[in-house]
Amino acid sequence: SGIWAVIPAAGRGTRFGGDIPKQYLNVAGRPLIAHALDALLAHPRVVGAIVALSADDTRWPGWTHWNGKPVLRCDGGGERADSVLAALQALPPEVPASALVLVHDAARPNLHDTDLERLIAAADLAHDGAILAAPVRDTLKRASDSDRIAATEPREGLWRAFTPQAFRRGALTAALQQAQAAGIVVTDEAMAMERAGARPMLVEGREDNLKVTTSADLALAEYLLTQRVR
Ligand code: C5P
Repeated sequence: SGIWAVIPAAGRGTRFGGDIPKQYLNVAGRPLIAHALDALLAHPRVVGAIVALSADDTRWPGWTHWNGKPVLRCDGGGERADSVLAALQALPPEVPASALVLVHDAARPNLHDTDLERLIAAADLAHDGAILAAPVRDTLKRASDSDRIAATEPREGLWRAFTPQAFRRGALTAALQQAQAAGIVVTDEAMAMERAGARPMLVEGREDNLKVTTSADLALAEYLLTQRVR
């Protein structure tokens, strides 16, 4: 059945000192979130997207369709996971509990078709869902209070979690509700699933699927997206 994309975009903060929430920062001529929508809705199995927005968002362009597919909006919540849960609950009621949903950060504009294809293929087979991720390449240091090195941590078996993250709608909704009820702030959807006892798959993805967080990321995203041939 059809896959829905869920895009948490209710973050108000910008770490760039200005007042533009980062999902609306302009990269390669368009807001970051437009690049995210492009990448997700290009996939033939993705039938629509729902975007969680801050209630006081004045910048949402009001898109209702993208690439001929519906774009819905809903109000987000206080934390990222609250926004994702709100979006899942605002999906059309006919979306089955067994349908896959793809949760993707509005601030990740450089998702490639090949990565999305591999993620969906893995999630089709995985019982507990799948996420894009990459193994840690750098040596990891634990800092003491004073920014001195206290220890070197083994990096073996450690991965960086990216988005999209693909789960069954019903399972993800239940996992996020459990985490919310327990008062635990999860920083990605997989963390909620893990807490619920699931073992999602790691699908190795491109390192350039970056989340724009700093002004250096913004410059890198600009470079990557202007290089791309669509
Ligand atoms: O701030 P951070 O980089 O973790 O945000 C990741 C994504 O989650 C962004 O797309 C942001 O808009 C979204 N978010 C949200 N609701 C919140 C906080 C963040 O949808 N309350």
